[in-house]
Amino acid sequence: MNAPRVVVVGSLNMDIVATMQRMPRTGETLRGDSMKYTPGGKGANQAVGCACLSLNTSMIGCVGDDVFGEWIKRNLLENGVDVQGVEIVEGLSTGTAIISHTPRDNSIIIVGGANDRCTGAIIEQHKDMIRGADLLLMQLEIPVDTVEQALAVAKQAGVLTVLNPAPAQELPEGVKRDVDYMTPNETEWEIISGVPCDSDEALLSTITDWERKYGNKVIVTRGDKGCCYVEGNSLQHVMAPQVRVSDTTGAGDAFNAAMAYGLLQSGTSSLREILSFAVASASLSVQTFGAQEGMPTLKEVRALDALAERLV
Ligand code: RIB
Repeated sequence: MNAPRVVVVGSLNMDIVATMQRMPRTGETLRGDSMKYTPGGKGANQAVGCACLSLNTSMIGCVGDDVFGEWIKRNLLENGVDVQGVEIVEGLSTGTAIISHTPRDNSIIIVGGANDRCTGAIIEQHKDMIRGADLLLMQLEIPVDTVEQALAVAKQAGVLTVLNPAPAQELPEGVKRDVDYMTPNETEWEIISGVPCDSDEALLSTITDWERKYGNKVIVTRGDKGCCYVEGNSLQHVMAPQVRVSDTTGAGDAFNAAMAYGLLQSGTSSLREILSFAVASASLSVQTFGAQEGMPTLKEVRALDALAERLV
């Protein structure tokens, strides 16, 4: 049987990562331990994550006509991602992410570069690729109008859709209406729902209201606490196994790729099982430095997921 087809429409960045023991204070100059360039961008990370899980994966997006763009495309290819939908924009730089990385967490500044040119024209050009997919996976590091247009193409063709709304922003009605699954983290969910969500009660009521209004499914990711969703009028938690953390960059991307994998397995019976698999994937990804280098294989996730299930 052919592997299910996933199309990722999204960003491709070069991650410039400075590792330090703690975050600098405002106005402070701090000595870092090391500096590394490594391919990233939420879109490209999720594409590599899907390919590592053996999904047939294609990427649509834009890079600049520079060495970073070539490097990122080559890395996608080496990871088994089809890059026919990755366009090179003349005269523009590839997107970059300046990442401050400590042993516990990170902070990221992104500069869109060529990602900002991933417009509706690119979707129009590659719409058959979206129509031919089983699942469309997206994030918000490209213009939101493009996301809305890609969702509309997918919806018309009956393609399942997942939006990781990161970085969060207000969503156009078309996005809210056409998306099937949304995976914000807690902060992003506060921005999107417009309500502070500092308790389980608040999460339950905001997710319930949203799902009733728009008819899609919301899964809120909670870092080392796993994720939660609503089922049977109650908030359900999927806990994460405790692991040694090396780099949290890309953990959300590993989660989304694994969730896409789970949604495409016809034999998978419940959302809880899919999310347990996704949480296990994210937990594995934080144990390795680099967003794409840390994407786990199917075998690795399955091994940890069996363990994770016993721990919950
Ligand atoms: O989700 C992690 C990613 O966010 C990094 O790779 C960086 O490029 C930013 O886009």
